[in-house]
Amino acid sequence: MPVFKERVFSGVQPTGNLHLGNYLGAIVKFVALQEKYDCLYCVVDMHAITVWQDPAELKRTTREVTAAYIASGIDPKKNIIFNQSQVAEHAELAWVLNCVARLGWLNRMTQFKEKAGKDRENVSVGLFAYPNLMAADILAYRATHVPVGEDQKQHLELARDIAQKFNNDYAESIRANGFGETFFPLPEPLISGPATRVMSLRDGTKKMSKSDSSDYSRINLTDDADTIAQKFRKAKTDPHPLPSGVKELESRPEAENLVGIYAALSGKTAADVLKDFGGAQFSRFKEALTELSVEKLGPVGAEMKRIVQDAAYIDSVLKDGSARARAIASETMKAVKDIVGFVRV
Ligand code: TRP
Repeated sequence: MPVFKERVFSGVQPTGNLHLGNYLGAIVKFVALQEKYDCLYCVVDMHAITVWQDPAELKRTTREVTAAYIASGIDPKKNIIFNQSQVAEHAELAWVLNCVARLGWLNRMTQFKEKAGKDRENVSVGLFAYPNLMAADILAYRATHVPVGEDQKQHLELARDIAQKFNNDYAESIRANGFGETFFPLPEPLISGPATRVMSLRDGTKKMSKSDSSDYSRINLTDDADTIAQKFRKAKTDPHPLPSGVKELESRPEAENLVGIYAALSGKTAADVLKDFGGAQFSRFKEALTELSVEKLGPVGAEMKRIVQDAAYIDSVLKDGSARARAIASETMKAVKDIVGFVRV
């Protein structure tokens, strides 16, 4: 395997309000990675429209996710922050990858099955092809590392399969065009730490989600202190005090979730959290969790609200990021055209 330049790519969909699951599962990890890698953080507006989005609302949420990136501490100068639709190479490469990926591979995607439900005949073709676009996002930059939540693991494996098949199918042409043995790196998922999966506050077996009808199921990044306190107070728990070891959390999804959230926000392990709170009643733990959440999320939410006011600034960040992203992706796309056999005139 040749050595590829280490590069991080990830994306967040601009759909609905950002919540604690997006923040801990993705954005916090993005922030940490900027110290070590060249990173591209994308607002994936083209993924968003695989299900219906109100156009005015899509613009608002695209700017909101951008503001959340910046408010959380991602430096837009050091990294590339942009929205997907502004770099046409994503769609262009996705088409080529549509022709590499096999129907059978996509048929196995559990997220599609869940989202399509019983109404398969009536979902968009885009929803089915979504993982190919995601592979294109990553491979357009020949990214090597992709921080994602647990739920995206299967899509990452598919991206690796697509990269591998492209490398194999076009091996001869890749060599003939002077790119050596392989063109695309096989991107590695980075899934680690507590809270790779933040669950609903009302049901510890369901993911925290912006589409849940109850706002009490989630903590939004823009919730104020009183709302956060109220949501944690009402959060579902079981009747027992917190255990002293992580093993005992396994059969207690709500307890596991709240401990995981505390751990992620405090930068501790779940075991350390239980050292402090093992034996405590939930009422006491929830108070501590509220205090910690307000302390950590309050400034991010406030900064986000401030940045969102300045659409011109946000758009300038996206414009600069898109230009820098395009410079990389267009090089990849030129090479892909040569490899596939498209005549470039
Ligand atoms: N599918 C991802 C999600 O819903 C978002 C995404 C799109 C993404 N393209 C990506 C994540 C590329 C990582 C890399 O969370």
